[in-house]
Amino acid sequence: AQGSTSSATHGALEVLVEGLRRLEYRGYDSAGVALVTANGIEMRKKSGKLARLLDELDANPLPASVTGIGHTRWATHGGPTDANAHPHVVAGGKLAVIHNGIIENYAPLKAELVAHGHSFRSQTDTEVAATLLGEVYQDLEAAGTVEGSLLSTAMQMVAQRLEGAFTLVATHANEPGVVVAARRNSPLVVGLGDGENFLGSDVSGFIDYTRRAVELGQDQVVTITADNVTITDFHGVPAEGREYLVDWDAAAAKKDGYPSFMEKEINDQPDAVAQTLLGRSDIDGNLTLDEIRVDPAVLKSINRIIVLACGTSAYAGQVARYAIEHWCRIPTEVELSHEFRYRDPIVDENTLIVSLSQSGETMDTLMAVRYAREQGAKTVAICNTNGSTIPRESDAVLYTHAGPEIAVASTKAFLAQITAAYLLGLYLAQLRGNLFQGQIKDILAELAKTPAKIATVLANSEQIKELARSMADTRSVLFLGRHVGYPVAMEGALKLKELAYIHAEGFAAGELKHGPIALIEEGQPVIVVVPSPRGRDSLHSKVVSNIQEVRARGAKTIVIAEEGDESVREFAEHVFYIPETSPLLAPLLTTVPLQIFACELAMAKGYDVDQPRNLAKSVTVE
Ligand code: G6P
Repeated sequence: AQGSTSSATHGALEVLVEGLRRLEYRGYDSAGVALVTANGIEMRKKSGKLARLLDELDANPLPASVTGIGHTRWATHGGPTDANAHPHVVAGGKLAVIHNGIIENYAPLKAELVAHGHSFRSQTDTEVAATLLGEVYQDLEAAGTVEGSLLSTAMQMVAQRLEGAFTLVATHANEPGVVVAARRNSPLVVGLGDGENFLGSDVSGFIDYTRRAVELGQDQVVTITADNVTITDFHGVPAEGREYLVDWDAAAAKKDGYPSFMEKEINDQPDAVAQTLLGRSDIDGNLTLDEIRVDPAVLKSINRIIVLACGTSAYAGQVARYAIEHWCRIPTEVELSHEFRYRDPIVDENTLIVSLSQSGETMDTLMAVRYAREQGAKTVAICNTNGSTIPRESDAVLYTHAGPEIAVASTKAFLAQITAAYLLGLYLAQLRGNLFQGQIKDILAELAKTPAKIATVLANSEQIKELARSMADTRSVLFLGRHVGYPVAMEGALKLKELAYIHAEGFAAGELKHGPIALIEEGQPVIVVVPSPRGRDSLHSKVVSNIQEVRARGAKTIVIAEEGDESVREFAEHVFYIPETSPLLAPLLTTVPLQIFACELAMAKGYDVDQPRNLAKSVTVE
């Protein structure tokens, strides 16, 4: 969502369209804008991507205006149709409202409004909130007792009645030049311009116009005009926001000559890892994670770690678990955030919660972190987005410095998350004395070499791209891995599902014989992530046996192995080599060919790799 009001310097439509373009990664089922013009509210909205709205605006242009709101949608209540797109215009065409989140009590509110004689054009919870806002506004108008913006007061009163998570933004024809927003749990940031002010779901919505931003608290209402910003709570009591300067470069969100953000971000990975390592240790291998402002005594006393995340971030957590347990000897579990909270988990003040979230806004993870905090656990967020909600609500944050990730399916953030989680693991091991300084120094030195090795993998990617293009008709791909290669296999499968819409599954190679092997038939592609032959416990030879087992049953075997590992050649139709590294660091390399494979295959099928169907980059609903 994005709201804006501005001086004559920038027309509202220009600001909205540019903002929506930058925010489209959050959802792209439909898009719409509403402007407050001399003739009242004028609105255009369309299902589908932003380009369809732009066509509509060309066909039916809007008059100039300095006040407006706009929205890109990821459907929750009601499918992606024109009618369900936002803004919703109600109150006889005078009030326009956009919304992010889910209003949980919309059904009883709708019943109440229907009883009052209102009818509805869409299936959305948003139209219910908008209609309620219109009704309250009208009552206030009739009573004539409110001074100042009726829209602000009405918004406060409505927000008090809503349950769930929401950011609501509204503008009213009777109050041109005013935009009012309310937020509970969903993100909303204010942008302070010069004679113009902005609202956005995140700063990228207005980054072209200002770097001064104000972070809002929970349950607040903000009213902006071209030269004023007023913040209150839901009862009208004045409140303060925290002003900060946005530090990332708007240019970082550009494609740098790549045809897609996905390709750019895959190629950004050496940098993403290098930036995440930067400045966090000294030459003697001492880790200096100043950001972890949790009392070291507390970190020494923890007896359990729970990693919480969703999607790709959860696979980064699964990789990190192998390293953290190995280095720190602290029992570590990884759980999907949405499962964690609802199973009455055992969490106490000796539990360290590590959340992983690229966006810092994933509602499932935010709610899980909140829950754990309430139980007394200490929480550390590993996050890629400065000032986002999850780090703000955690005891400490370790930022991944991957730079803005725009493509919906995560790539560079994944490698940066593994890197940051490894640093956290090493830090705990240092603090608790589980590793000798020399061991930490060696691991850090090895980590420092990974960016160059990732660059080597990228430079040698033509062969895997060719294979991917030749497999555009494939209907199913299986991925096998073991130890840290297991979550890598699952991430490889997820990338293929997300980008190429191909049925794919990642298995632990050891589990193969317990069931999945039944899936193998003539020609079934199986991608195997082979552990280093220098690793422990003869894992390598076991996985090589698995390759033979599936091959004997007709599988087409594609193998990712370490440079110099000749033993796999005779069982593999295709082998892709990654540079040598220590076994725990291998995921930083083995993941890359799998990302390239999925991306290239999806492009061969003609799909939009930046915005796959049905997905959104940050899912801010539970
Ligand atoms: C969404 C995205 C995934 C992402 C997941 C977690 O489902 O489509 O790509 O991995 O959210 O996002 P987070 O921002 O919390 O890492």
